[in-house]
Amino acid sequence: MTTPHRDLIGKHALVTGGAKRVGRAVALRLAQAGLDVAITYQHSKDEADLVTKEIRAMGRKAFAIQADFAQVDAARHVADKVLDAFGNLYALVNNASCFSPTPIGKVTPDDFEKNMAVNARSPMLLLQALAPALSSHDTPGRVVNFVDIHVMGQPLVGYLAYNMSKAALHELTMTAAMELAPKITVNAIAPGVVAWADAYSEQDRKDYMRRVPLARPGTPEDAATAVLFLVQDADYCTGQILRLDGGRLWT
Ligand SMILES: NC(=O)c1ccc[n+]([C@@H]2O[C@H](COP(=O)([O-])OP(=O)(O)OC[C@H]3O[C@@H](n4cnc5c(N)ncnc54)[C@H](OP(=O)(O)O)[C@@H]3O)[C@@H](O)[C@H]2O)c1
Repeated sequence: MTTPHRDLIGKHALVTGGAKRVGRAVALRLAQAGLDVAITYQHSKDEADLVTKEIRAMGRKAFAIQADFAQVDAARHVADKVLDAFGNLYALVNNASCFSPTPIGKVTPDDFEKNMAVNARSPMLLLQALAPALSSHDTPGRVVNFVDIHVMGQPLVGYLAYNMSKAALHELTMTAAMELAPKITVNAIAPGVVAWADAYSEQDRKDYMRRVPLARPGTPEDAATAVLFLVQDADYCTGQILRLDGGRLWT
């Protein structure tokens, strides 16, 4: 059970894609730790309303913003809403992501542009718009990006546009960490599996599990624990990519 941390109570976080799966677990965990939390959703309004209701029941502030990050003005709109409501921001978690196959030979310009817009451009524009607020604290503000182990030297075959967009997010993490220090820390989490994608068959799941030394898939709660570490405890950590893959690095 996460207990509120005195340094986080009264601070504010934004979790993109916070209605379901990993984003939901992250939003709830940050709220348990004391933060007020804004989330974004694209289609999952009912689930988003449930998350904000659960957070408010903890005594924190919470609200949800509809946004399609494929649209160029979405990040600015979200940043404005967050600053209007909270007046400030301590932690930005870029979790929202699109993920669908784009095998070479079938990648359209629209596929490429959508992956880049949702997975790289919007995190960059959010970070840029929110950097002044994230910089205005006694301790460094926090940015946590969700990349993927598949941009750490093991590309996911058949997902070229996704891989390229997450590689761009990886580079955003490294560049922003240098440029925004010492006012903001910028780190990323690179999950293996922390919530199965529907596209994975039972056989795919068994094959994957044979390569995981810790012998279980990760969970959204594992991802939330890693985010909380980076937000709450990792004062002297920036430009790091935290692999969250059950030890798959060596297999
Ligand atoms: N799941 C894993 O095992 C795994 C593995 C490697 C990396 N990751 C990364 O970890 C993060 C969380 O994973 P996840 O599986 O929980 O993610 P996910 O379910 O694939 O996506 C999270 C949310 O992103 C939102 N989203 C999708 N397209 C959007 C758009 N155009 N505009 C705005 N929001 C959009 C969706 O919101 P709505 O539901 O509201 O439409 C969705 O609920 C992602 O960044 C993912 O790439 C996950």
